[in-house]
Amino acid sequence: TLKSIAKFATAASILTVSLNVFAEPIEIKFSHVVAENTPKGQMALKFKELIEQRLPGEYVVNVFPNSQLFGDNNELAALLLNDVQFVAPSLSKFERYTKKLQIFDLPFLFEDMDAVDRFQQSESGQKLLNAMNRKGVVGLGYLHNGMKQFSANDPLNVPKDANGKKFRIMASDVIAAQFDAVGAIPVKKPFSEVFTLLQTRAIDGQENTWSNTYSMKFYEVQSHITESNHGVLDYMVVTSNTFWKGLPADKRAVFKSSLDEAIALGNKIAAEKGNEDKQAILDSNRSKLVTLTPEARQQWVNAMKPVWAKFEDQIGKDMIDAAQAANT
Ligand code: LMR
Repeated sequence: TLKSIAKFATAASILTVSLNVFAEPIEIKFSHVVAENTPKGQMALKFKELIEQRLPGEYVVNVFPNSQLFGDNNELAALLLNDVQFVAPSLSKFERYTKKLQIFDLPFLFEDMDAVDRFQQSESGQKLLNAMNRKGVVGLGYLHNGMKQFSANDPLNVPKDANGKKFRIMASDVIAAQFDAVGAIPVKKPFSEVFTLLQTRAIDGQENTWSNTYSMKFYEVQSHITESNHGVLDYMVVTSNTFWKGLPADKRAVFKSSLDEAIALGNKIAAEKGNEDKQAILDSNRSKLVTLTPEARQQWVNAMKPVWAKFEDQIGKDMIDAAQAANT
């Protein structure tokens, strides 16, 4: 009988091995709205590379850039339906799921990207990764893009230059309030529509990072870019609770460490590309750079900072204090 058990075991293991050989790898989808040649685009591709290298034959990661699969209006809903397993919306796009992340949209809160990074890595910042857990959205990490600049078809030197102009914004009430504060008209639109809206002059301006303004060619249809550094555009890489908890623990660990490495690469690219893409825009001579004097910049600060008070209750005063503490 021992012999027959051994025979059976061998047969069983051969069967298992051959089943593994023939088993199709599980498809994982990562959807995003930007171009491949961006911090987020490169991060997603690195993640794919690492997963397929570390879990060969078990998983394939298919990355869908440029809102090809899902766009701003449906990527989080698709995540919760498990139609996509990873998305990385900007921090401004979660307000239907939590009001806590609105902190990142407060104008003139962070002095620079180092301050943003310090806050994100702090205890308060890490806590925010869990802000949507009860809604089934799991925050796995922050990814940088950069500071936002204003662009328009006229030079924006002082706040009154924005008065009456239409600006495309991400779906964020804080950003809407920021433009209301200078008498502008904010229009919430998905990222995929921005170029056409600017080109057809349906809207006058927008705010974005150097990377997005360059990769989406917004600078070709905007005459002026004001170097305002008035806010941050960063991302949270999220998955669904259903998918994440459904992964075997050992695989989940590989997914998490691979994602951390991919994010580190994305952050490095973000730091480099900010300057490179700004330079490429300036070299193109398609739009002119508006540099603010300290006095002019102070006018924007004075006009927009009152927005903080409106959202303080939703965001939490302690969070705002923690973010400000990251500036020094
Ligand atoms: C935007 O909508 O302007 C950005 O959030 C796009 C992105 O993902 O960087």
